[in-house]
Amino acid sequence: MARKTPDLTTEPNIADPPAARLLVWYRAHARELPWRVAPGKAASSSAAGHHAADPYAIWLSEIMLQQTTVVTVAPYFRDFLARWPRVEDLAEAPLDAVLSAWAGLGYYARARNLHACARAVCADHGGRFPSTEAGLRTLPGIGPYTAAAIAAIAFGRRALPVDGNVERVTARYFEVAAPLPGAKAALRRRAEELLPAGNSDETFPYGDLAQALMDLGATVCLPAKPRCGSCPLAADCRGRISGLAAELPRRAPRRARPLRRGVAFWLTRADGAVLLRRRPARGLLGGMMEVPSTEWREAAWSADEASAQAPVAAPWRPLPGVVRHGFTHFRLELEVWTAPAEIGSGPDEGRWTRPRDLGAVALPTLMRKVVRHALETTAGT
Ligand code: ADE
Repeated sequence: MARKTPDLTTEPNIADPPAARLLVWYRAHARELPWRVAPGKAASSSAAGHHAADPYAIWLSEIMLQQTTVVTVAPYFRDFLARWPRVEDLAEAPLDAVLSAWAGLGYYARARNLHACARAVCADHGGRFPSTEAGLRTLPGIGPYTAAAIAAIAFGRRALPVDGNVERVTARYFEVAAPLPGAKAALRRRAEELLPAGNSDETFPYGDLAQALMDLGATVCLPAKPRCGSCPLAADCRGRISGLAAELPRRAPRRARPLRRGVAFWLTRADGAVLLRRRPARGLLGGMMEVPSTEWREAAWSADEASAQAPVAAPWRPLPGVVRHGFTHFRLELEVWTAPAEIGSGPDEGRWTRPRDLGAVALPTLMRKVVRHALETTAGT
């Protein structure tokens, strides 16, 4: 028997299942985001061959949104779509152009995977994204969360992407007190209870439900101060009823991220050009341009040890201060050392760059900080 379609015109009613209340709420309160189609207009897998949402645009947005906020992503998303309107365009673009356009979004492996994925979609799938979670997960850069998001939003599949926001809503609604990260699997199972029962009726707007949960987590079910008065799930939210909502989800204490250290070498020529080089393709910031630096390690560096990793032997002098940057698994402090170089000198693999051209180089955020620090501390010297 077909499921009764929720009445989207009324106020949330506690007699309705949570999914129906979430859709009512989403109709009225969805954030307007550039990759979104209006609530109620999303893809449905019963409308085979017709998608209100362009899977390429949805995929692009979801890759960009991994680890990055919607506010940061919006201009990048528009820029990418304007430059590469179809997946074929992105597949044909040079990797360097994609990395440059990505600069500032961080986690550059995502940009490499983005490019590899566009190529795989064109080479192996005739330019069409697979429409199932399992099919999507075979592609570079698409893990369980992103596969579920694309399957639901672009293809109307019964799938639920569970991120930190959805975990929080779930932990509160069902009052799951076990701490993360151990409770992850249990939270996922509970989250899936929010989906209407799966049967042949695929007209349910699963993409809207997924995005309703994302938006509820981002705007109402806030980490420290949940706005329960505005929540369509408040009436039977067990966390709210017990008064525990604001404390959930609990987290096991996290070990502080270790501190690594290194030295970056700001080698300047008399004409003002500085030495940059490309990082190895594999590893952190793989393939990005950098101000040459030592390896990054927890032990402090002696002057002799650091000099031995400099790109050239030179009368290196430390600049005052340090550059700090946070990576996912460690914090980094870089000293910056400077030395003058002769024109015509320098290692073969380096690229001499004038300060006014630095803006056009795809430098990761850490390296932009190094450049800014070096320019500020050497100004007028
Ligand atoms: N975070 C990840 N995917 C998102 C989406 N589609 N809308 C809002 N926030 C998101």
